[in-house]
Amino acid sequence: MHEHEIVRQLDETRAAARLGGGQKRIDAQHSKGKLTARERIELLLDEESFEEWDMFVEHRCSDFGMAENRVPGDGVVTGYGTINGRVVFVFSQDFTVFGGSLSEAHAEKICKIMDHAMKVGAPVIGLNDSGGARIQEGVASLGGYAEVFQRNVMASGVIPQISIILGPCAGGAVYSPAMTDFIFMVKDTSYMFVTGPEVVKTVTHETVTAEQLGGAITHSTISGVCDRAFENDVEALLMVRRFINYLPANNRAAPPFRPTPDPADRMEMSLDTLVPDNPNLPYDIKELIYKVVDDGEFCEIQPEHAQNIVVGFARMEGRPIGIVANQPMVLAGCLDIKSATKGGRFVRFCDAFNIPIVTFVDVPGFLPGTAQEYGGIIKHGAKLLYAYAEATVPKVTVITRKAYGGAYDVMSSKHLRGDVNFAWPSAEIAVMGPKGAVEIIFRKDIGDSDKIAKRTEEYRRKFANPFIAGHRGYIDDVVAPHATRTRICRSLAMLRDKKLSNPWRKHGNIPL
Ligand code: HXC
Repeated sequence: MHEHEIVRQLDETRAAARLGGGQKRIDAQHSKGKLTARERIELLLDEESFEEWDMFVEHRCSDFGMAENRVPGDGVVTGYGTINGRVVFVFSQDFTVFGGSLSEAHAEKICKIMDHAMKVGAPVIGLNDSGGARIQEGVASLGGYAEVFQRNVMASGVIPQISIILGPCAGGAVYSPAMTDFIFMVKDTSYMFVTGPEVVKTVTHETVTAEQLGGAITHSTISGVCDRAFENDVEALLMVRRFINYLPANNRAAPPFRPTPDPADRMEMSLDTLVPDNPNLPYDIKELIYKVVDDGEFCEIQPEHAQNIVVGFARMEGRPIGIVANQPMVLAGCLDIKSATKGGRFVRFCDAFNIPIVTFVDVPGFLPGTAQEYGGIIKHGAKLLYAYAEATVPKVTVITRKAYGGAYDVMSSKHLRGDVNFAWPSAEIAVMGPKGAVEIIFRKDIGDSDKIAKRTEEYRRKFANPFIAGHRGYIDDVVAPHATRTRICRSLAMLRDKKLSNPWRKHGNIPL
């Protein structure tokens, strides 16, 4: 064959691959408000940076008329490129080709880029839009999924893995995204569920739509499966470009530094009046976060789920940090099953990827009730405790108000190897609040309101302050709220070369 003939064939194959399932199906994709697999990659990566691999891969199935039905690329576009100059690997499922369904060959393409990402230590971003296992291939497709799952697990804690769900993701297929670090979804066009609405109707007689069962709103509010829900493909892809700027390339790399004009010694006088005089009144902990971090930029994770705890990424002096904060505006900032799970997973991500953790504490305790106890708050609450206790990254804690009971211990206390623990003058560090405490230790006086009021005042004076903890060195200093940013910045700078490791073991046994 002449050289120019090969070039011509190459061009033809490339053109066929680029056309995917054909113009009609591309138009159908667009009419649903969805972009194509390649358009998504173009938006996600830096211009002209995409290096595509395996454009010529085709499936090997000959059953059900598949021998005559082959599309180069086989329903997934794979390769690598850069985001703001940093290398990332990417796969993007093409719904126009066999519904983006996963064949053996399609899975091999995904596995190939995952293996390379592990070798070079770069993140993997998966753009999911698929009808699931390629039905014509049967068990070969299931094997393909399992190959991807195994790699997800081996990559966990080694390279960041991000899933963006931009279409269907159902059945066992959900378990690949489930094992990645973050899942982002698009409202109205994406859904995730283990069994779909028809099966649900047959088995439990519930009538639900796909959107109600597993849409972006469901998973970003109720289940917590999804970390952020976006309006459309464009918003999701552009946000992931910004999001990745907080993450290191791998677990041995430092998170990326971004210079900031925001001075480390910026005083924020308005914080002095953030905590209300009445300890029962709420305030918005996010105001503290926005005022303390670089440039007021906070990238919140799971903002609509378990809102009694706030988690997300920000920067201090240009370096990424993870923030965990109790939110007094929701359930008075109590810890419960969902918030402990949300917080615990976030802390573990930060610890795995060298991101220091800053914790803001205002927690009256664990949420009481049968729903919590029957739901296993003992085990789920322990997740957050476990995560903080095993974390070896720099940990800076600021107690703004309440730090009561076991929740005091859990929230990155000194005893769980908190490196620097500050308290505001308004901090109350005690076994419980003054009212509850007096009702227990002076139970015999309960009928005498004067006596109880006096005892409560006495308890408040004695314990509802930061000094008892200060006497023992459980907090390192009482800081003025307006100086919080400066003190955290100095602490993090001091901790930059912190070295701490846990004893050798195969792996710990976090309460699941
Ligand atoms: C092969 C598939 C496919 C699949 C869709 N297609 N899913 N081909 N295997 N799994 C094809 C369709 O035949 C169609 O081809 C094209 O993709 C678009 O599909 P439509 O049905 O026209 O699109 P839409 O109406 O948008 O519906 C999308 C859908 C639906 C909801 C995803 O296609 C569907 O229900 N598909 C089957 C889903 C499923 O049961 N998958 C297996 C689940 S089990 P043409 O040629 O007409 O364009 C599973 C297990 C994984 O995934 C296990 C891992 C351990």
